[in-house]
Amino acid sequence: MTATPARPATAAGTFSIGGDLPVHRLGFGAMRITGPGIWGWPADRDEARRVLRRAVELGVDFIDTADSYGPFVSEVLIHEALHPYPEHLVIATKAGLTRQGPDQWTPVGRPAYLRQEVELSLRHLEVERIDLLQLHRIDPQVPLEDQIGELAAMREEGKIRHIGLSEVRVEEIEAAQAVAPIVSVQNRYNIADREAEPVLEHAERNGIGFIPWFPLATGTLARPGGPLAAAAQAHGATPSQLALAWLLRRSPVMLPIPGTSTVSHLEENMAAALIELSDDEAKALEAAG
Ligand SMILES: NC(=O)c1ccc[n+]([C@@H]2O[C@H](COP(=O)([O-])OP(=O)(O)OC[C@H]3O[C@@H](n4cnc5c(N)ncnc54)[C@H](OP(=O)(O)O)[C@@H]3O)[C@@H](O)[C@H]2O)c1
Repeated sequence: MTATPARPATAAGTFSIGGDLPVHRLGFGAMRITGPGIWGWPADRDEARRVLRRAVELGVDFIDTADSYGPFVSEVLIHEALHPYPEHLVIATKAGLTRQGPDQWTPVGRPAYLRQEVELSLRHLEVERIDLLQLHRIDPQVPLEDQIGELAAMREEGKIRHIGLSEVRVEEIEAAQAVAPIVSVQNRYNIADREAEPVLEHAERNGIGFIPWFPLATGTLARPGGPLAAAAQAHGATPSQLALAWLLRRSPVMLPIPGTSTVSHLEENMAAALIELSDDEAKALEAAG
C-alpha cells in the first residue's frame, strides 16, 4: 500500500441506508469503547473519545452502537465526543437487550420496554430522531408483530427514521417486513464464519444493508504462514485489513463496522478500504475460509 490518504474510509464507496441515508461502507462499531464484558466505563475514557473523533476524521459517517453497550456508556461517549454531530453522520443504535452484568445479555421485547429504550437513546444521544433503530434480538416470548409494531409506531411518530434487525433468519426478516419496512440486518459474519450467507443473499436481492458483526474474527485463517497472513504480506497489509477488504468486496450491500478501543487499530482498520483484492485472491481466501 502507498501512503494513506486523509479520509481512507471514503474509499469503501457508499451505500444508501433505506434509500435516503448514504454512508461510506466502512463504518465504526462502538461496542469496544466500554469496560470489560461490555460493562461500565472503559479504562481510558479519553482514548475512547479520541477513537470516535478520529473515526470521523478518517471519513467514517456510520457509527453503530446500542443502549445496552455499557449500558448507556457507548451512547454517552458518542455524545461527549461528537455532539453537535457532523451533518452527515448516521448513528445507528439498538433496543431489545437488557444487561445483568459483564457479558450477560437478556432479550426483552415488550413494547413498553422498547419504547423506554428508544426514549433514553434519544436523550443520551441528544437527537430528535434516531436514524436507524435496530431490534437487537427478537424476544421469543413476545409476538414479533408487537415488537416491530411498537418500533413502527415510533417511526410514525417521527422518533425513528428507519428500522433494522439483528441476528435473524430470512423468514424473520420477511415476517418483520410484513409489519414495517426493514432497511438493514446485522448478523455475525466474517471470512471464516459465513453461516449468515443466506441472509446476506436475501439482503443483496432486496437492497437491505448487511452489517456484519465480528468482522475481524479470522480464527486460524490468520495464523502465521496461513492464507490470510500470506495474502496480507503480498499487500503490505495485516490479516485484519485483508479480512475487511474481503468483506467490502463480497457485496455492495456490505457495511462492516470493525470495533476497537484504540486509535492505532482504528487507523489500521480504516486503511483496509484502500486494499483492492484481485478475483483470484478473493476466491482463494473464500475457499480457505
Ligand atoms: N448485533 C449484535 O448482536 C452485535 C454483536 C457484537 C458486536 N456488534 C457490533 O459489531 C461491532 C464489531 O464487532 P466486534 O467488536 O465484536 O468485533 P470485531 O470488530 O471483529 O473485533 C473487535 C476486537 O478486535 C480487536 N481489534 C480491532 N482492530 C484490530 C486490529 N487492527 N488488529 C488487532 N485487533 C484488533 C479489538 O481490540 P482492541 O480494542 O484492542 O482494538 C476487539 O477486541 C461492535 O463494535 C458492535 O457495534 C453487534
